[in-house]
Amino acid sequence: MKRGKQLYEGKAKKVFATEDPDLCIVSYKDDATAFNGAKKGRIADKGAVNNMISNIVFALLEEAGVPTHFVRQLSDRETLVKKVRILPLEVIVRNTAAGSFSKRFGVEEGKPLAGPTLEFSYKNDELGDPLINDDHILALGLASEDEIAEVRVYAHKVNEVLEAFFNDKGLKLIDFKIEFGKTPDGRVILADEISPDTCRLWDVETNEKMDKDRFRRDLGKVEETYRAVLERVRT
Ligand code: TMP
Ligand code: ASP
Repeated sequence: MKRGKQLYEGKAKKVFATEDPDLCIVSYKDDATAFNGAKKGRIADKGAVNNMISNIVFALLEEAGVPTHFVRQLSDRETLVKKVRILPLEVIVRNTAAGSFSKRFGVEEGKPLAGPTLEFSYKNDELGDPLINDDHILALGLASEDEIAEVRVYAHKVNEVLEAFFNDKGLKLIDFKIEFGKTPDGRVILADEISPDTCRLWDVETNEKMDKDRFRRDLGKVEETYRAVLERVRT
């Protein structure tokens, strides 16, 4: 499958057309940003590492009954995916307090939550991806009531599958962000990526952070950590 014209460039990936109107190629970059692009950097080999991690995870989720955009990996950095219209929602699931949740509610990072906690942000860089509720989503016409319900069910399923999967690899799934897209025939499927860029993963023994917080918070050993996560999920 050959790359056609570039359709989109995001902060971590580029998307290209293919000769098949229903398929795209995503190409993962080494660029890293944080705080809505305010902090910029590069993480060597991140593109290839995240491509591989995300594909392993998406294949697992497909097997577990969550429909995804994943078709097949084409190269180190490139993957063939189904073309979708991304719903402008960041769907966040939290198991343990961290990050913006800890800050917003004044809860210590690492405190277990009463149960998996779902949160939506409006995917809009200019506005800084503000928190949004179901009524806001309907008011703005970002998704229908049925779509929101479907997204909730899939998000909880993704959490169940990934929590067990990562736990098996010695990683505690603290929280993660996923995105969904709509296919031309109107189905909602999981899209974007699942990687250390989009999850918080802590070593189960040491609580060491093994995700993008190492870059966001200048904790060092960034490249090594991304590679270590790949090694763990691969085996
Ligand atoms: P937060 O605590 O900063 O809101 O992040 C929650 C989860 O979402 C965390 O696993 C990191 C991920 N995330 C993204 O993937 N993209 C983003 O732009 C942000 C802010 C968070
Ligand atoms: N998506 C955020 C940004 O660009 C990065 C993050 O904190 O994950 O800057």
